[in-house]
Formats: sequence, C-alpha cells, structure tokens
Amino acid sequence: MALSTKHLLGIKDLQKEDIELILQTAVQFKEVLQRPVKKVPSLRDVTVVNLFYENSTRTRISFELAEKRLSADTINFTASGSSAAKGETLLDTVNNILSMKVDMVVMRHSASGAPHFLSKHIPAAIINAGDGINEHPTQALLDAFSMQEKFGSLKGLKVAIIGDIMHSRVALSNIYLLHKMGAEVMVAGPPTLIPPYIQQAFGVKVTYQVKEALQWCDVANVLRIQLERQNQPLFSSLREYNLSFGIRREVLENLGKEIVIMHPGPINRGVELDSDVADGPFSIILHQVENGVAVRMAALYLLSPHNH
Ligand code: CP
Repeated sequence: MALSTKHLLGIKDLQKEDIELILQTAVQFKEVLQRPVKKVPSLRDVTVVNLFYENSTRTRISFELAEKRLSADTINFTASGSSAAKGETLLDTVNNILSMKVDMVVMRHSASGAPHFLSKHIPAAIINAGDGINEHPTQALLDAFSMQEKFGSLKGLKVAIIGDIMHSRVALSNIYLLHKMGAEVMVAGPPTLIPPYIQQAFGVKVTYQVKEALQWCDVANVLRIQLERQNQPLFSSLREYNLSFGIRREVLENLGKEIVIMHPGPINRGVELDSDVADGPFSIILHQVENGVAVRMAALYLLSPHNH
C-alpha cells in the first residue's frame, strides 16, 4: 500500500484511505516503540533535514526521535543562527541542503503555503510541520490516532475544538481530518477568534458558549490563544478569557458524563486550561505527545524514497 501523494502538505490533500494507512502504520510503529529496542532499520541510508523557521518543542523533537527510531540520518536546521538571518531565501537554503544528498524535508514556517511553494521547486518529499495559520497535518494525525486509541473509531465521534480558531493551523487540519473520517465538529470560543465564514465553509457547528460545547462533545480539543499571530489582542484580557472560556475541573465534574481533554501544546495554564484539568483524569495530553512519535514514523516511512 502507498499514499496517493508524494508530500504531506496538508490533510486537505489526503484521501480517507491515506489517513487510514498512516494511522494503521502508526499502530505498528507504536508496537515497535513499546519494545526494549525501539529502533527499526526502515530508513537506513535516508537523510532527513528538519527545517524549522518557527519555534517548536514537541514537533521538532518528535520528528527527530521518529527519524532516529527509523535509523535515518537527521540534520536539524533552525532559522535563528543560520544564513537565513543574512537574507538567504528559503529556496536557496533548501537547494544548498539538498545538494549535500539530503532525501527528505520536514519543515515549519510562519508563512502559510511555504511548503506548498517549495514542493513545486524541489524533488525531495516534504512533510509540513506547520505553516502559518494554514495546516499542521501531523498534529491532526496524532490527535486522530489518540482519539481512535481511546474510542476505537472516529466515525460519529463528537469533537469540540475550543479557543483561538481564527489563528490555529491545528484547528483547520483537525476539521479536515475529522470530516473525512465521519466525526462531527463544533468550534467554540469568543466571536472575535472564530472566523465568520467557518460554519458555511467547513460545515462545523459554532457556539460562543464553552459550556454548550462541553455538554455536546465526547472530546474537547483545547487550543491556546496565538498572541504571536495577532497584531493586537482580539479579546479583553487573559484573565477575562479564563473566566469566560477557560476550562475548570468543577465544570467537567458537573457535566454528568466523562469527556476527554486534549491540547496540542504548549499549554497556557490558567488561561485556556486550569492545571487540575491539564493534569487531571480526563486529560490525554501526554498520550498525544507520545503518539506523535509513532505517527511521524509512519508519515516518514510512507513518504520515504523506499516507498516512492
Ligand atoms: N503542537 C505543537 O506544534 O507544539 P510545538 O509548537 O512545541 O511543536
């Protein structure tokens, strides 16, 4: 079995069968990661560059670990400290790196569409590790893997995405994926952080009341406010955001049902999630991080030169 695409630029471009193949392959790699020797030779002789033009903790380390578990050679590039600071273009940078016999590119960039642009100019397979406010496909895949592990299937699952929907590539990739896999989606947050066209364009339910979303859903995927993408804050204050939209333990305990709490990280504790929710019994946040390695191993393996 092979993916229908050469690159992983976004969930938008994937078929349902591609998503199923990545998730099934990740199940096998998760089994590898439970063994005493957590390494397989699948990408021996393959060299991968992790090209990060934006900050990252989880995604960058997760990709690097996934590459090492697959026996690939790994190079880490961060824009700060590189010749990008001297004005070198993205394409020049990548062409120089590829001339050193690099086979695959994992990239994060603040410009939406940067990996799509690159894919038209270079021969190597590209995995998008987050582009601006567009997509973060491996985050949506690891979220899906984590939900599937918990519930067995995504079909019919009710997922609320709560927070700064406007600036979130995680939200968009999750919406594409959940719809393709037959789940229902509701978005919740302040009206200023929810694009007005989202209901019509993406077929999601919309509420400005977090309690309504929590009462409706099986899973709440909670997002931070992306202040770095707002010229001026689109809400009154972090304290007021917490009072109106923050998720507290007593609200969850009074729902009369159990729901699962997810968050892609980094968490702003005391803003979108109180600590006793982030670290509490309903949270699977660290399972998401753990699953990210297996999911990224699957994506790297399926897009590697050995499979294309
Ligand atoms: N979830 C996520 O993308 O986290 P990082 O920004 O730390 O990679």
